[in-house]
Amino acid sequence: MSKRLFGKAAIVTGAASGMGEAIARLFVQQGAQVMMTDLNETDGVRIAQEIGAMFFRQDVTDEQGWQAVVEATVQAFGKLDILVNNAGILLKGDIEQTSYEDWKRLMTVNADSVFLGCKAAIAVMKKQGGSIVNMSSIAALAAKEDYVGYGASKAAIAALTRGVAADCRLKRYRIRCNSVHPDGVLTPMTRGGYPEGIDPELLTIDKDPMNRACRPEDVANGVLYLASDEARAVNGIELRIDSGQFVMSI
Ligand SMILES: NC(=O)c1ccc[n+]([C@@H]2O[C@H](COP(=O)([O-])OP(=O)(O)OC[C@H]3O[C@@H](n4cnc5c(N)ncnc54)[C@H](O)[C@@H]3O)[C@@H](O)[C@H]2O)c1
Repeated sequence: MSKRLFGKAAIVTGAASGMGEAIARLFVQQGAQVMMTDLNETDGVRIAQEIGAMFFRQDVTDEQGWQAVVEATVQAFGKLDILVNNAGILLKGDIEQTSYEDWKRLMTVNADSVFLGCKAAIAVMKKQGGSIVNMSSIAALAAKEDYVGYGASKAAIAALTRGVAADCRLKRYRIRCNSVHPDGVLTPMTRGGYPEGIDPELLTIDKDPMNRACRPEDVANGVLYLASDEARAVNGIELRIDSGQFVMSI
């Protein structure tokens, strides 16, 4: 089978861990040239060297940093076809527990970063077309009373995604923009969320006592599809990858 991202140049943020790492690995396997970015330089460089990608240390909340990442990517690969806005943080808290500081931190890291990333990528992609994939969450769609700030930040991403998709289409930029909504993915972010005595690393999707655990690779496959030309008619969608968690909650 031919490589599904052959000849594509991609940026993947938050690529030193969890889903970002899985996405970067899969993209390279599928023929893309990948610029991995993260705050975590140690793991980022190690993984990039292992898989044959490039690494750029980036704080996704820094506007000028975005300029530098896009410039470095275009310089290295000659273009930018794909942006995966994956970096994010999780802070727990219901409306009474969540401090204003935590609210602002979630909004800045999770939502502002995607806004900045879209702006920086579109400035290049509008001349050549491209695909932007934004990592949202099931928390953007279903009530998560103990993650109010996180859910709001991820809902902002979903709304931004629809706006970008419509705007780029109206302007005939040939840029697609879609959001991905995972739930219960076994990554360092969620490791602490399992009942005592359960090692999430030993779970398979069948053995999970909550019946919903999935692997970073399950999400990476969905991102691959949206990033590739196979999804050329898919624009402005919310792809749920949640083992049916959303339909169980309504
Ligand atoms: N794990 C889940 O169940 C789940 C479910 C839904 C959505 N998500 C989302 O998926 C994305 C990836 O999460 P994960 O589970 O792989 O988590 P993770 O913690 O394993 O990886 C997140 C990565 O983002 C990086 N990062 C954080 N802040 C950054 C910043 N300011 N600048 C640059 N990099 C930064 C971290 O260093 C880390 O490498 C996040 O946006 C998360 O909200 C995760």
